[in-house]
Amino acid sequence: MQTVGEIKQIHKIIREQKVNGKKVAFVPTMGNLHAGHISLITKAVEAGDFVVSSVFVNPLQFCEGEDYGEYPRTLKEDQEKLKDAGCDLLFAPPVSEMYPRAKVTNVIAPAEITDTLCGLSRPGHFAGVTTVVTKLFGIVQPDIAVFGKKDFQQLAVIRRMTEDLSLPIEIIGMETVREADGLAMSSRNSFLSEPDRKTAIAISENLKKAKAQIESGNKDFAAIEKSGRAELESVGFVVDYFTVREQATLNNATIDDRKLVILVAAKLGSTRLIDNIDFVL
Ligand code: PAF
Repeated sequence: MQTVGEIKQIHKIIREQKVNGKKVAFVPTMGNLHAGHISLITKAVEAGDFVVSSVFVNPLQFCEGEDYGEYPRTLKEDQEKLKDAGCDLLFAPPVSEMYPRAKVTNVIAPAEITDTLCGLSRPGHFAGVTTVVTKLFGIVQPDIAVFGKKDFQQLAVIRRMTEDLSLPIEIIGMETVREADGLAMSSRNSFLSEPDRKTAIAISENLKKAKAQIESGNKDFAAIEKSGRAELESVGFVVDYFTVREQATLNNATIDDRKLVILVAAKLGSTRLIDNIDFVL
């Protein structure tokens, strides 16, 4: 596996692959890779002929006061994991390569699905994501791009953006990979203290509980949301949202909706965790 930091070089390699008729599959990441990321690479290996990944901690998607400086950077280990998983090319640019100017042309994040959930508590975050993903798509020119469903809203935003901008890229969403006790894998889990790590399983447990209630016929979403939130607060979380939504629009679920997702964002100490569970009635 080759690691490249220059856009020009990536363009050259991709051109050669495309001339040879190869289908390029891409997995963008911010590094500090865990089994969740590796499942995305495995899918890319299966779906494409030439697999590209990127490791870039994108300053544009961190809001004021967030953990950009502390975000774990583990390039050496990431390179090993990517190589073992079958990745062919890693793009790991410095910030100056991605953003050579002080001000960058922003890709506006799609409205509506970003005016809710994490879009409310992290102003500017999704514009940072759509800007970097559009740039990465322009650099790698993939036929396929693979993202995790753990960032459910991000996946919806990227799907919508790809459609709105008529980008010829198939977006694949992959299931969340979990620790043995159910905690969704995340680079931010390493910020949790030992007791908080134990408490953190309450998120997936309460998601499962809420899903079971809905599946057994309870359509009082407001009550389900209230009790999910209260359960998390009772073990020490500061809850941003615990909410039942329609999968594609991310609007509040109605009793007629069939494709549902329950989403949670909550803080334990200074660590913000997100998770979700999607299902069809
Ligand atoms: O999900 C992430 O790791 C990031 O938001 C992404 C998609 C790589 C863009 O920086």
